[in-house]
Amino acid sequence: LGCQIIAGIDVSKAEDVARLGVELQGVKLDLLINNAGILRDEVLGHIDYDQLEEQFRVNALGPLRVTEALLGNLDSGGKVAIITSRMGSIADNSSGGRYGYRMSKCALNIASVSLAMDLEDQGIAVGVFHPGLVGTEMIGGYGDITPDQAAERLAQRVDELNLTNTGTFWHSNGDVLPW
Ligand SMILES: NC(=O)c1ccc[n+]([C@@H]2O[C@H](COP(=O)([O-])OP(=O)(O)OC[C@H]3O[C@@H](n4cnc5c(N)ncnc54)[C@H](OP(=O)(O)O)[C@@H]3O)[C@@H](O)[C@H]2O)c1
Repeated sequence: LGCQIIAGIDVSKAEDVARLGVELQGVKLDLLINNAGILRDEVLGHIDYDQLEEQFRVNALGPLRVTEALLGNLDSGGKVAIITSRMGSIADNSSGGRYGYRMSKCALNIASVSLAMDLEDQGIAVGVFHPGLVGTEMIGGYGDITPDQAAERLAQRVDELNLTNTGTFWHSNGDVLPW
């Protein structure tokens, strides 16, 4: 595909993200997709707080860190896509558990809304996207849709993203999700 790959970047590590910024210096980006994420499980009464913090570092701080590092690469008309999860929705939480994942994605969601507001004046739109239940490694391959279908839908949502709908929480199927 003619892609340039900068390998070995852990989004939870400040030095790695700084290296990403250096490697991409002077490269203009039309679209930044923050996709990296991890899902762990916690059982109430036996919560592993190191594991909970790990999810915060990757899922909540990672996308903010990467976006901040690459702000200089985005111009007016540029877009930032945040791949979150509806599991980070407070209104949609009907099954409990998954403390670290839910809390970290919820934190990501509110950071994304702040990004949308802070970047509006620069003409940069921020979309907050739930991909759907996708058959990836994260959930053992059993999803409602395939990774290809999720990618196709998300590409449509990104095409529709603009400054009038910036900061909206979308399902990849086009539904607007509650926070
Ligand atoms: N699958 C679903 O049903 C579902 C539902 C809702 C939301 N999501 C979200 O969709 C996104 C993609 O998930 P997925 O289902 O494709 O999961 P996945 O199959 O587990 O893939 C996760 C990806 O994130 C990368 N990653 C993890 N930690 C990283 C880190 N610290 N630094 C850099 N890259 C890191 C992994 O890279 P390596 O392979 O190199 O580790 C991998 O490419 C995530 O944000 C997830 O929360 C997924």
